[in-house]
Amino acid sequence: MKVALASDHAGYALKEQIKEWLADWGIETYDAGCHSLESVDYVDYASGAVGALEEQECDRAILVCGTGIGMSIAANKYPGIRAALCHDLFSARATREHNDSNVLCLGARVIGSGLAEEIVRVWLHTEFAGGRHQRRVDKISAIEQRVLGQ
Ligand code: RB5
Repeated sequence: MKVALASDHAGYALKEQIKEWLADWGIETYDAGCHSLESVDYVDYASGAVGALEEQECDRAILVCGTGIGMSIAANKYPGIRAALCHDLFSARATREHNDSNVLCLGARVIGSGLAEEIVRVWLHTEFAGGRHQRRVDKISAIEQRVLGQ
């Protein structure tokens, strides 16, 4: 598995920590920025990481901003992206099992790094349950096809 990472300035420090955790766990990463604490627009960096998924260079993405909300709104504009904002372990597990989420969004101003590490670990290692959940994900894809003409 290869994971794209992106953040704005508010998420930069946590994104750097996530990069180290994934390296420790033997998971390859692509860092779509940002690369400093200078103020930037989260939407530009969501695009970079999601682009790596669209190009099939990465399998999943983790996006970090202050709340995680801006990143999740931006990422969910892209066809095929199912971005989940998770600040607890139950949601991190459930969104993989039920939604087959391919993007995890985190708010660096909302949770501490200890909880963030566990959320990332659970989200990366939980499989999609399929079955009735596949039917629901397929209906989301059908909406994209109808609305976006994809
Ligand atoms: C940046 O100040 C902040 O607005 C951003 O990180 C994020 O929380 C937006 O949703």
